[in-house]
Amino acid sequence: MSIWRISGGNRLNGDIRIQGAKNAVLPIIAASIVTSCETELINCPRLSDVEAAMCILRHLGCIAERDGDTLYIDSRGMSATDIPHELMREMRSSVIFLGAILARAHSAQLYYPGGCELGARPIDLHLDALRALGAQISDSGGKLECSDSGLKGTRINLSFPSVGATENIMLAACAASGETVITNAAREPEIVDLQDYLRKLGVCVFGAGTPTISISGFNPVQVVGHRVMTDRIAAATMLCCTAATGGKVRLLSVEPAHFETISEALEYMGCQIERGSTEITISSNGILRAPKPVVTKPYPGFPTDAQPLLMAACLKADGTAVFTENIFENRYRHAVELRKLGSDISVVGRVAMVTGVPKLIAAPVTATDLRGGAALVVAALAAEGETQLYDVGHIVRGYERLDEHLRALGGDIHYKC
Ligand code: UD1
Repeated sequence: MSIWRISGGNRLNGDIRIQGAKNAVLPIIAASIVTSCETELINCPRLSDVEAAMCILRHLGCIAERDGDTLYIDSRGMSATDIPHELMREMRSSVIFLGAILARAHSAQLYYPGGCELGARPIDLHLDALRALGAQISDSGGKLECSDSGLKGTRINLSFPSVGATENIMLAACAASGETVITNAAREPEIVDLQDYLRKLGVCVFGAGTPTISISGFNPVQVVGHRVMTDRIAAATMLCCTAATGGKVRLLSVEPAHFETISEALEYMGCQIERGSTEITISSNGILRAPKPVVTKPYPGFPTDAQPLLMAACLKADGTAVFTENIFENRYRHAVELRKLGSDISVVGRVAMVTGVPKLIAAPVTATDLRGGAALVVAALAAEGETQLYDVGHIVRGYERLDEHLRALGGDIHYKC
């Protein structure tokens, strides 16, 4: 088990380039098989989830290679339509391969991705939508057997704007005859990035970023190049670290509009934020006040992924911050760990109340999930003394060289040998 030693108290200063988005690159990797083609994907972070998606591609008979931050995918030789259990359980987003394999091969066999640290995470919306497009899906003992004899475009109204379901429908609909219209679709920027890639692939798709997406027709091309969007949650993480420690940090290669809800909250808390077209600078003197109530919602609302991060930035803020988590039922596990550092957090159901304390004191803590783990980094950087952070594996699933980047800005964070 990997451990980080984090000595708090250093201000963060300097420039940092933010990585490509994990949640954008994974559906695009799945999309690279909807037709027989070669794809060059630039700005792909080196993360275990990305490596797991490349393993799935190789299992399916595709070529998947990395050169620095570029992935080269050749899906022309795709020969299998199944994903074994051990590859499915590596990462939850493997379920997005379902729509892509069906689109390409009219048959797919894979396993239920199962629940995770954040809650049950059902996939009923994915399966109902694929059935509406004409897929036959049977589920026995957690194995999904799917086939179709020609998918047909239809209108699909999602009862909740699920990101994964929207992506799965977009991919399956590439192969459907006629028009597929998704209403109440997810509007996250990663959906727009997927649409951009699909358009380059020759798919007639529009509406991503709005609640209505239409997919109709496909004139496949053979070679595609795409640059993956920047990771808005990695950007939010750096903003929250700087807010909590104090200092001045400029984030490069970002799209500030993608994480405006977080910037706005930090501004209210007393940070100064300067927005440019592809960069953002945060200055903080480390003296903060509690934000207005934070309620997580689908985009463009406050992202559930940033809830633990902003909570960690609030621990020493003057007043009481109130968080309501509406997306995942089990997303306050970090609160238990944050309390070990001396913070005052109470959780009742979906609501967490954080009352600022004058100081945080280092303690051994454990990452329980990706963003909850990153929240512990934010808090440890602002605590007195050396925190030992256990189970760093959860964090490095989503952040490329987070420790190195923080050290470059002045943070004291090192692997324990
Ligand atoms: C979610 C986030 C996304 C984030 C990602 C990684 C939202 C809306 N989505 O996407 O921004 O990047 O986690 O942390 O914030 N649900 C069902 N049935 C389904 C699918 C989903 O009931 O078939 C429920 C889930 O249990 C959950 C909610 O819908 O409560 C959001 O799910 P969804 O958007 O699909 O999750 P992800 O795609 O993982």
